[in-house]
Amino acid sequence: MATQLHRLLPLLLSLPSLIFHRGTSPQLAATTAGDDDPAADLYPVVLLPGNTCSQLEARLTASYQPPSPQCGAEKGTGRWFLLWKNATAMRDPGAAACVADQLRLVYDPAARDFRDAPGVETRVVGFGSTRAFLADTPADRDLCMGALVGALERAGYRDGATLFGAPYDFRQAPAARGQPCRAFSRFSRRLRALVERASAGNGGRPVVVVSHSQGGYFALEFLNRSPLAWRRRYVKRYVMASTGPGGFLLSVQTLAADPSTALSDPSLFMALPSPTVFGPETPLVVTRARNYSAHDIPEFLAALGLPPLAAALYETRALPVKLGFRAPVVPTTCVNGVGVPTTDQLVYWDGNFSETPGVVYGVDGGDGLLSLASILALDTVVGDGPRQEDYRSIKLAGTSHAGVVSDAHALERVVGEIMGV
Ligand SMILES: *[C@@H]1O[C@H](CO)[C@@H](O)[C@H](O)[C@H]1NC(C)=O
Ligand SMILES: *[C@@H]1O[C@H](CO)[C@@H](O)[C@H](O)[C@H]1NC(C)=O
Ligand SMILES: *[C@@H]1O[C@H](CO)[C@@H](O)[C@H](O)[C@H]1NC(C)=O
Repeated sequence: MATQLHRLLPLLLSLPSLIFHRGTSPQLAATTAGDDDPAADLYPVVLLPGNTCSQLEARLTASYQPPSPQCGAEKGTGRWFLLWKNATAMRDPGAAACVADQLRLVYDPAARDFRDAPGVETRVVGFGSTRAFLADTPADRDLCMGALVGALERAGYRDGATLFGAPYDFRQAPAARGQPCRAFSRFSRRLRALVERASAGNGGRPVVVVSHSQGGYFALEFLNRSPLAWRRRYVKRYVMASTGPGGFLLSVQTLAADPSTALSDPSLFMALPSPTVFGPETPLVVTRARNYSAHDIPEFLAALGLPPLAAALYETRALPVKLGFRAPVVPTTCVNGVGVPTTDQLVYWDGNFSETPGVVYGVDGGDGLLSLASILALDTVVGDGPRQEDYRSIKLAGTSHAGVVSDAHALERVVGEIMGV
């Protein structure tokens, strides 16, 4: 599940950067001469953090069936408690099992949507603020935009005035249009209101939307489902850090290690390697008997012993979103690390997916999580998108997935894009 992904995300040392520019030249920040309010020069910023970086609260109703008596302690009290990320609970194996049970989602065939486990209600903490990101511990700071928030504050940004956070339920991925997805619908409504409020509070200036990693799937879907006139009115620039249209192999490895996550953590499907980037001739999973490409995900899910529902949900809810990864038609900068050893292939030679796979690294590295193919595809999928006029790509050599929003040299570039310098 999400916690596994979090543990595995590599943090690697940074090296000097290579920068590639395309499209129009950088814009200058608007200046209002003679104005002594420093915030008057700033375009408001809304940040979407990566996977597991939002905090979730829960309460347990009387119908909750605890897997152990310990898990039922809060049952029926009506009290909202911190479910993710609750460091106290994670340290106690009994309580950690409760967190896992209460974090899992279930698919509700009647609603055709994922919802919290029976008897569990959850909510996202602190929408609107960057203070609610999981950046309060050293372990999560780099991954969860803590360093970026610090850099923006040094540049004059203030939380709640010019700087805003859009945390989200990271277990719930946006589903294809036409598929019910209450979590994403609700998130989109709140984000739309937040962007409008941020703009209104800053003299009607448009907003710079900044996402990291999984936040990019949410931000891009949000933008592409917003009317073009709204995007042009409210979005000054979209800065997408560490997201690629191709997904990544760690999601395959996570599914193989625990197939039940397919039906309890739909965000994993969002991250599976996409046919947009990887053709049918590119084996991603290798076994003696057969190989699996990004076009064989349904067969792979079946090989993991999952019921047909898993492949059906993949094909109807997740795949159309992956294939629909496209240019948002607002000025966009993609910032990605490259040149870091990254898994390109998983080898389960005996076809036993419970075993630890052999790993084949790509010749040219990606960011340690996203392969180079997935990163380079941004230049065509987004950069060459119809009507996409202003596209810039910044590729930072030797910079990891998390390093893009935490290494000093990367922060300088990202903050530069945000501030239009
Ligand atoms: C964290 O989880 C424990 C259960 O293990 C709970 O008692 C506590 O209230 C939670 N913390 C917060 C801040 O809600
Ligand atoms: C699987 O892919 C590898 C290359 O990665 C290739 O050598 C092998 O022949 C393929 N196996 C099958 C069964 O197609
Ligand atoms: C697959 O691998 C797991 C872990 O190594 C092992 O426990 C299990 O027995 C293996 N299954 C088969 C069918 O060999």
